Amino acid sequence: MLLTKTFSDIVAADAPLARMTLFGIGGIARQLIQPRSAEEMSEVIAFLHETGEPFRMLGGGTNLLVKSNEIAEPILHLGRMRSMRIDGECVYVEAGMPLGRCVTACGEAGLAGLEALAGVPGTVGGAAVMNAGGRHGNFGGMVKAVTLADGAQVRTIPAEAISFGYRTSSLRGVAVAAVTLALKRESQEKIAERRVAILAEKRRGQPLGARSAGCVFKNPPGAQAGRLIDEAGLKGERIGGALVSPLHANFIVNAGGATADDVLRLIEMVRKKINEKFNLSLELEIEIW
Ligand code: EPU
Repeated sequence: MLLTKTFSDIVAADAPLARMTLFGIGGIARQLIQPRSAEEMSEVIAFLHETGEPFRMLGGGTNLLVKSNEIAEPILHLGRMRSMRIDGECVYVEAGMPLGRCVTACGEAGLAGLEALAGVPGTVGGAAVMNAGGRHGNFGGMVKAVTLADGAQVRTIPAEAISFGYRTSSLRGVAVAAVTLALKRESQEKIAERRVAILAEKRRGQPLGARSAGCVFKNPPGAQAGRLIDEAGLKGERIGGALVSPLHANFIVNAGGATADDVLRLIEMVRKKINEKFNLSLELEIEIW
């Protein structure tokens, strides 16, 4: 294993992925690489490009169902890249920083905007790539620049060079090492008030503390997946340890001991029922490995 030799400090062998996903489900990563900086991340990617070896990138594992028992390709995980620097109304934050911690830290620094994403799980890098968000705002709207570490020289591109769409962006598949956010100065108290209110609202409507992968299906054009699944009477449906959340029908939660197979069978069951009832095919929002 050349990779293990060259980057011995940052490569772990046979790492369990279950604890790296919000679902708490997953097999083994044969090689888990955790770079400590954008430069190191770029070196690793350059090395992987050279060997021609395909690899995967894992963010907060909050939008992911791992069905494989074993993933042979190296997995790049940014859990050690979590630094943050504030400069006026701009915040430079590394991609592995948990989004929730970034939301709180920005608010405490008197910088407003990001509290719109309170309660959204995942990492800053994942939030940029997926354009995470909800009814109070989307991450992409606050991005000023993105730092890339894709095997070439580490470099920063402006937001204007990126397109953000509904739960997607042109950063998909791109090695994002850090994000620079443009926020607005406001009193800490006001920001905290909004953050707490948004969190409380989320808690009423979503199983925030549960093991899940967030919304399972994309909203079909002009409709809401959660409402359709609810109207089809599927809340509380269960296969093994996988449960259609009684709180929000577009969430499947791991109610204890769920396997990937349980979740996949429940997904198929929901899809089939929605297709029969509404003649609509639901598209997955979550990623499956
Ligand atoms: N609804 C039901 N039953 C349910 C769930 C929802 O009738 O079980 C109804 C609600 O009452 C509401 C409508 O469906 O009238 C929409 O529900 P909600 O406001 O919860 O929004 P959503 O479209 O289901 C989207 C995002 C969420 C995000 C929320 C809030 C998608 C697929 N989902 O949900 O994102 O948190 O808006 O902004 O876009 C995620 O990305 O993982 C996610 C959870």
